[in-house]
Amino acid sequence: MGILERLYLHPTPPARVERNQDKRQKKFKKKWIEVDRYIAQRLGPSDPVLDMALKAREAAGLPDINVSPNQGKLLMLLAQTIRAHTILEIGTLAGYSTIWLARALAPGGRLITLEAKPRYAKIALANIAHAGLSNRVDLRLGRALDSLPALSAEGPFDFVFVDADHENMPEYFQWALKLSRRGSLIVVDNVVRRGTVLHAGASKPEIQGIRRFYDLVAAEPKVSMTAIQTVGVKGHDGFAIGLVTADP
Ligand SMILES: C[S@@+](CC[C@H](N)C(=O)[O-])C[C@H]1O[C@@H](n2cnc3c(N)ncnc32)[C@H](O)[C@@H]1O
Repeated sequence: MGILERLYLHPTPPARVERNQDKRQKKFKKKWIEVDRYIAQRLGPSDPVLDMALKAREAAGLPDINVSPNQGKLLMLLAQTIRAHTILEIGTLAGYSTIWLARALAPGGRLITLEAKPRYAKIALANIAHAGLSNRVDLRLGRALDSLPALSAEGPFDFVFVDADHENMPEYFQWALKLSRRGSLIVVDNVVRRGTVLHAGASKPEIQGIRRFYDLVAAEPKVSMTAIQTVGVKGHDGFAIGLVTADP
């Protein structure tokens, strides 16, 4: 019997197709993680301060939602490329990405990071102090949308990293732009979320937040932005990276 006859006469039952897809996905995920770890080992040798920040996050029971080591290094490189002097981060968690970014600051530079949860902020402050960065990092406790208006007097920011709740991603993008200048870089994490960004009819406010963010960017003439899908230890997601092309 030829392959076409076999396919027509004995089509694969849907359950088996799904099982095979699951198996393939698991295999892919394993490979993404292995490759991510290989890159981190070769290009981002172990750093006791950053490793400690992750251990402190885990020991305190905070969720494993920080950027990966390779993503942290990418953030640092981007901020270094534009010689960022002022950095704004929305979403601190335990301060892991904060440390990567603060290390990129030009001499005399400063970073403001916004966090809503006091318990997370406490761990972050300890990690930032352990990294010797307390004099350059200013953590503002409270809901980001409440803290952002006061930052108008402290900007413009050369680099803004948005990594908080997805629901408010469009508002964070608008604030990032408002607090920027021509030449600033805006980076937004979690803009793909395993492809759920495609679910136009989804009722989840997080998904709608990400989609509204894309709509805003698409209509915004003062930012040139793209998004890159990422795979690795964090699964399938994406970073949006945009250059502010005119003064807001
Ligand atoms: C993905 S984590 C940040 C991870 C961090 N940037 C890193 O990579 O190490 C998101 C953080 O945003 C905080 N967050 C969520 N909603 C917030 C809000 N409305 N205002 C301020 N922070 C918020 C969460 O408590 C959490 O710590």
